[in-house]
Amino acid sequence: SWTTGNVIEEQVAAIREQVGTKRAICGLSGGVDSAVAAALVQKAIGSQLTCVYVDHGLMRKGETEQVEKDFVAATGVQLKVVDAQERFLDALAGVSDPEEKRKIIGREFIRVFEQAQAEIIVEAAEGEDVAFLVQGTLYPDVVESGGGTGTANIKSHHNVGGLPEDLEFELVEPLRKLFKDEVRMVGQELGLPEEIVQRQPFPGPGLGIRIVGEVTKERLDLLREADAIAREELTAAGLDRDIWQCPVVLLADVRSVGVQGDGRTYGHPIVLRPVSSEDAMTADWSRLPYDVLAKISTRITNEVADVNRVVLDVTSKPPGTIEWE
Ligand code: XMP
Repeated sequence: SWTTGNVIEEQVAAIREQVGTKRAICGLSGGVDSAVAAALVQKAIGSQLTCVYVDHGLMRKGETEQVEKDFVAATGVQLKVVDAQERFLDALAGVSDPEEKRKIIGREFIRVFEQAQAEIIVEAAEGEDVAFLVQGTLYPDVVESGGGTGTANIKSHHNVGGLPEDLEFELVEPLRKLFKDEVRMVGQELGLPEEIVQRQPFPGPGLGIRIVGEVTKERLDLLREADAIAREELTAAGLDRDIWQCPVVLLADVRSVGVQGDGRTYGHPIVLRPVSSEDAMTADWSRLPYDVLAKISTRITNEVADVNRVVLDVTSKPPGTIEWE
């Protein structure tokens, strides 16, 4: 019968069998899938695994620390953190178009990740074969992509000496038979932090696509504060499990007049986008209790400098998407 204990035992055996004495790399995104995949592989092969976390500076408050500290403490995994915040900010400077931002973030991410992979290969001891790449592919992804498994072939532009032209990895995908809720159960059983196991969906491009307008350090810091307040209050109200996710968006190019203390303000609006959904393909806006919305609004306008208005997005999907960009 299906139990998380059985799944873990079975996968640990399968991973050991597949990897043998070779080495594996796993990219962590801060999300539940890559975290659970990494934890399973760690349980199976321990120090033969190295995880890579690219800090692109577009994460929400506390998320990078969750990976660097809590995840490492829970699993004992060997982690290589690449601080690429400056690089992403430089690449995004002057760019407002959503698709352009997505392309830049995706491109920079691959470059930084491949560089890290190349460094791990170079750092490996003589005779050690870094042959595997761990991915958090779930059952729905397998079905969607036609079921094939395979290899990741990565073109070399690493500027690291002594590497083959192409880096070729065989994939390790320990979550291929699981649905999301099962992945969460496995993660919990493996002792991963609650914040990671229960995390709601968060886009790869992160806060970069939740700033309508150019992405700057100041705007990211501002949005991180507003987002942290919204999440805190939703959690305090016990609404985490009721909503699918709640993007918090900064309209960086919009200003409106307000009044605070004895003076006129001219600040930015923050948009709350709470949605309910089954699979993110369609969504409805969540009818959150007014008192929770009021609390979030009061706190954001009081605590976040330069924000003087909080607005609620009451659009379903379609016609709106969940994210604003
Ligand atoms: P939209 O905005 O298209 O979003 O209604 C649907 C779901 O996908 C998430 N999303 C992303 N996830 N990389 C991701 O991993 C992305 O580039 C990306 N864009 C949107 C979004 O948060 C929602 O859950």
